[in-house]
Amino acid sequence: MKVIISLCLFIGAVSALNNGLALTPPMGWLSWERFRCNVDCVNDPHNCISENLILEMADIMVNEGYKDAGYVYVNIDACWMANYTDENGGMVPDPKRFPNGPKYLADKIHAMGMKFGMYQDFGHITCLGYPGAEFHLEQYAYQFASWEIDLLKFDGCNSVPRDGDTGYPVMEFFLNKTGRQILYSCEWPLYQLFKQEYINYTAVAAGCNTWRAYHDIQDSWDSVKETLDFWGNNSGNFASLTGPGSFSDPDMLIVGDFGLSYDQQRVQMGMWAMLSAPMHMSVDLRNIDPKSKALLQNRNVIALNQDPLGYTARRLLVYTAPRNQGIFNVWKKVLYQQGSYALAFVNYSDQGTPNTYTTTLGQLGLTNASGYNVTEIFSGMTVGQFRPQDEFKATVNPEGIYLVKCVTM
Ligand SMILES: *[C@@H]1O[C@H](CO)[C@@H](O)[C@H](O)[C@H]1NC(C)=O
Ligand SMILES: *[C@@H]1O[C@H](CO)[C@@H](O)[C@H](O)[C@H]1NC(C)=O
Ligand SMILES: *[C@@H]1O[C@H](CO)[C@@H](O)[C@H](O)[C@H]1NC(C)=O
Ligand SMILES: *[C@@H]1O[C@H](CO)[C@@H](O)[C@H](O)[C@H]1NC(C)=O
Ligand SMILES: *[C@@H]1O[C@H](CO)[C@@H](O)[C@H](O)[C@H]1NC(C)=O
Ligand SMILES: *[C@@H]1O[C@H](CO)[C@@H](O)[C@H](O)[C@H]1NC(C)=O
Ligand SMILES: *[C@@H]1O[C@H](CO)[C@@H](O)[C@H](O)[C@H]1NC(C)=O
Repeated sequence: MKVIISLCLFIGAVSALNNGLALTPPMGWLSWERFRCNVDCVNDPHNCISENLILEMADIMVNEGYKDAGYVYVNIDACWMANYTDENGGMVPDPKRFPNGPKYLADKIHAMGMKFGMYQDFGHITCLGYPGAEFHLEQYAYQFASWEIDLLKFDGCNSVPRDGDTGYPVMEFFLNKTGRQILYSCEWPLYQLFKQEYINYTAVAAGCNTWRAYHDIQDSWDSVKETLDFWGNNSGNFASLTGPGSFSDPDMLIVGDFGLSYDQQRVQMGMWAMLSAPMHMSVDLRNIDPKSKALLQNRNVIALNQDPLGYTARRLLVYTAPRNQGIFNVWKKVLYQQGSYALAFVNYSDQGTPNTYTTTLGQLGLTNASGYNVTEIFSGMTVGQFRPQDEFKATVNPEGIYLVKCVTM
């Protein structure tokens, strides 16, 4: 640790991560939520973490419109490694599952016009028990660069949480030193949250391109709701620190998996766009419902996600219906186009029929007297023109979302 601490004093002079990447939220595919640590290619050859799985997904991204929609990062999460290092302590890909090695994958994916991401862990062993990066940070940064990766997801298992403050910037320093532009996806604040330690979001946002602030997403509505609640609470005001180059990360899109209804999938897609969240799909693209596929490729929602201001929506109000029937959340995102906003109305109740929330744009802080041209974002349909004092009705399905863009006229 001595080495790390002395280097850190040196790094203290650098005030912001400035690698030219993630100017808008990164979009791609990531293996973890859907494929986990499936290393059993003998019994489950089509779903194990392997070269074939990654290339199959990459092919579909190119051939079925995902790449054109903006999903360009093809990322392998955990469990790509062999459980040993080479004679120099270097990382070794599992020889059976990745027989041609990471550079081969990188070349293939680059030839398709896409980008390639990999995973490591700051601790001495990874979350799943493979060799970690601790004491090898510089060596592994160069090894990743030699494989020509474009993104590094850097986990925090089996490390001392406070070390995140020193360790994550050291890895960033070495990634920078390699001279290769590598998008740095950190889990730095998450491990401090686990230990209920002080999180210096200013340092996190300056040190990472994307930073996982909350628990891993699971394939369930409860997980999506809880994650949104964390962003709604915005404890420590971390949302104010996002923007081009640095985005808070509520974890993968689970649209098209098993756990969400169609309306719930719309909530996740719409809200990840509102939050300017990285959009890494974790789904079996070989096997996806056409409605989920269309949702993932919805150009209007993607445009909201990619808005150049990179603003993270704030939760304005939580409205509990009479007799506790349900909870309505209203979220507001400031857009790059001067005076324009996106609003999301989300109902978390599973009871009954669509409900209508009546308000005015003025009550939600949209006060330009010239009024607003309002468009429903998923469909692109014009809703109408509204002055701040006009009645505005939002009809929301149970566990659904109503998402609009309001442009000053
Ligand atoms: C390394 O950091 C410097 C200073 O912030 C920056 O100008 C440069 O673009 C970075 N290089 C890479 C490869 O990230
Ligand atoms: C790797 O080997 C170590 C030491 O033998 C063991 O403790 C660990 O569980 C192994 N990890 C995996 C993923 O098999
Ligand atoms: C948080 O990090 C920033 C940037 O590294 C630093 O200037 C500031 O002193 C830190 N704040 C605390 C309370 O540690
Ligand atoms: C959000 O804040 C409320 C009220 O303080 C708290 O009960 C809830 O656990 C918080 N949610 C998350 C996900 O942190
Ligand atoms: C949310 O929807 C449920 C079911 O339709 C409804 O009972 C409830 O009143 C709604 N919540 C609000 C705040 O309108
Ligand atoms: C409102 O926005 C829609 C969609 O962008 C556009 O077609 C329409 O012309 C706009 N109407 C006004 C009055 O600005
Ligand atoms: C209101 O919107 C109009 C049209 O976009 C713009 O010209 C004007 O500056 C805005 N007024 C304020 C106070 O922002």
